Amino acid sequence: MAVRRLAEVQPDSFDFTPENMVWVGKQVAKYPPGREASAVIALLRRAQGQHDGWLPQKAIERVGTILNMPYIRVLEIATFYSMFNLAPVGRFFIQMCGTTPCLLAGSDGIKSVLEQRVGPQGQVSSDGLFSWMEVECLGACCNAPMVQINDLYFEDLTPANFSHLLDELAAGRAVRRGSQTGRMNSEPAGGLTALTSFFGEHPPEPASRNKPYLPGPEDGTQPLSLIPPAPEPAEPALTFTQVEAQ
Ligand code: FES
Repeated sequence: MAVRRLAEVQPDSFDFTPENMVWVGKQVAKYPPGREASAVIALLRRAQGQHDGWLPQKAIERVGTILNMPYIRVLEIATFYSMFNLAPVGRFFIQMCGTTPCLLAGSDGIKSVLEQRVGPQGQVSSDGLFSWMEVECLGACCNAPMVQINDLYFEDLTPANFSHLLDELAAGRAVRRGSQTGRMNSEPAGGLTALTSFFGEHPPEPASRNKPYLPGPEDGTQPLSLIPPAPEPAEPALTFTQVEAQ
């Protein structure tokens, strides 16, 4: 297990924005008096979202003050869970699953792309766009290998389609989340093999799956979300299948 330490370079201060303080108050109010500490994960997540995707020491202290928790208790939580970043991350923070099913399906190839394209694990690329870390199973083994970028999953990766995905993100173009080979959810790669008389061999995708996702302007509360206020893209996004057919 990796050693998780606070970043050496820290900001001098941190406080929630007025909007986030309103949100914090609502979270704390969910719990009975004396149990406010139950909101600690939610508050740390909010603080991380406000602070460009990582938690500085001052934010951890601030959460402890709000929840009347000793600093060391909040620090224990922030350093235990890998969903909390303790040092700056890229605008697109990539969590690459390296657990056995993904490894057997080729995650080492995805890792090589990251090392060549982004650099060593834990470092932000020189353009500030990308950083990555290897994580344990993210629960999408049926569509291995996969990565999580900010809040979204990208699955059925190959070195080629993953490189293309990074290119599209770097260019600010729409990308398609989920499977990068076009299959729906975790159905068999060759199409349905059961209940085909019910659904047909290739049931239509839900509309939500067809919608492309643009790296959108951040709203200050979830700066790493790829889910945009999504206006219609200037150009319709192509699936990788379409791109490869051109
Ligand atoms: S092993 Fe990679 S998502 Fe489960």
